[in-house]
Amino acid sequence: MEKKLSIGIVGLGQFGKGFVPIFKAHPIVGRVAVCDIDKKKLETVAKEYKIQETYPDLDAICKSDLDALAIITQHWLHAPQAIQAMEAGKHVYSAVPVITPRSGRSSEIYDWCEKIIATCKKTGLKYMLGETSYFRPEVQYAMAKHAKHEFGHISLVEAEYLHDTLLPASNLIKVMMARTGLSEQEVYKLGGGVPMHYVTHSASVPVAITGAHATEVSCFGYAMPGDNYFRQDSEASNVFCNEIATFMMSDGSIGRVIEGRRVGHVGREALVRVLGTKASMEVTLKGAIWSDMKRFELVDVECRPKLPKPLGKFSGHGGSHPYLVDEFVRSIVEGHQPKTNAWEAARYAAIGAAAHDSALQGGKLVKVPDWGDAPK
Ligand SMILES: NC(=O)c1ccc[n+]([C@@H]2O[C@H](COP(=O)([O-])OP(=O)(O)OC[C@H]3O[C@@H](n4cnc5c(N)ncnc54)[C@H](O)[C@@H]3O)[C@@H](O)[C@H]2O)c1
Repeated sequence: MEKKLSIGIVGLGQFGKGFVPIFKAHPIVGRVAVCDIDKKKLETVAKEYKIQETYPDLDAICKSDLDALAIITQHWLHAPQAIQAMEAGKHVYSAVPVITPRSGRSSEIYDWCEKIIATCKKTGLKYMLGETSYFRPEVQYAMAKHAKHEFGHISLVEAEYLHDTLLPASNLIKVMMARTGLSEQEVYKLGGGVPMHYVTHSASVPVAITGAHATEVSCFGYAMPGDNYFRQDSEASNVFCNEIATFMMSDGSIGRVIEGRRVGHVGREALVRVLGTKASMEVTLKGAIWSDMKRFELVDVECRPKLPKPLGKFSGHGGSHPYLVDEFVRSIVEGHQPKTNAWEAARYAAIGAAAHDSALQGGKLVKVPDWGDAPK
């Protein structure tokens, strides 16, 4: 009989709790535990999903005999917690991004990527970044088209993450209040951080579609006049609410990403456009368009493989959530690197880190470090 995995979910906030039933439903997951330092959230989620095994914090769950942990805590905690869990012998699924340094310093992102890769090498355990864009249907469709050389040579991949701070459907001030426990006034005092340090949803797209990595980047920052959230005297000392980066990729193509937090737009994350020498693809809010030199057509981009039956009912971020869970679980049981492994995740994070450094220098070309391909 196939060995069943045991998994603990650490962090039961708005996002994390949605992953509990997905892990629970996966046919090769046998035992599910939950963990949160917030006693009320822990009790509520355990009761809702009928889970007996609970832990009061990461230290406690690291001492358990669980095979793997899904770390879905606040984004400035992910990297050190992932390393702590791997040091304790657990495979790790981490919510995005790898890390957002509260200092606003890009060099900390490089340091954490390096440490996570070193820990993967030392322990032989799996690390997977839960990058939703990678598993969106339009990105998977473009990847499949590129694998069949249907674009010809790709010259440009554009992606964006537009999420206005005050978006009614998902107000980032309220999200930060929930994530920090601070008042609205205190959140404004803290400031909005660095958009390019949360570049993962956009930067993952050119990396995933081309299979290449960025080599150098130029980025400009936009500062909104009178901004009371993105300010020099904020925690991250950052005035740019929107950052726009263009980068060279190792395959000769060009990537372009926009991270926008002051945008009059309903919001969007992931793929916008692929320009190839034979054909191109544009993803609009109304659907995806495939075009060659003779004609264009609206296309159905759903091409993802079938999920195990019990996972079919779950959705979230373009239906990516059950695919993320399935990929992580399978990578452990089947013994391969997850698609969004530590080396791949570092490629996403490094684009944003280097881009912000470029923006701080008025668009100066900055080299993007790379840690190579994941070992087989
Ligand atoms: N599209 C996406 O991929 C996407 C979307 C939303 C959120 N996210 C990511 O998911 C993460 C979680 O988001 P959220 O909105 O649920 O955050 P949240 O702040 O509501 O929840 C985080 C939870 O982690 C718990 N926690 C922190 N430290 C802990 C510890 N040491 N041990 C146990 N529990 C601990 C907190 O008590 C809290 O309940 C964020 O980092 C965010 O970046 C990703």
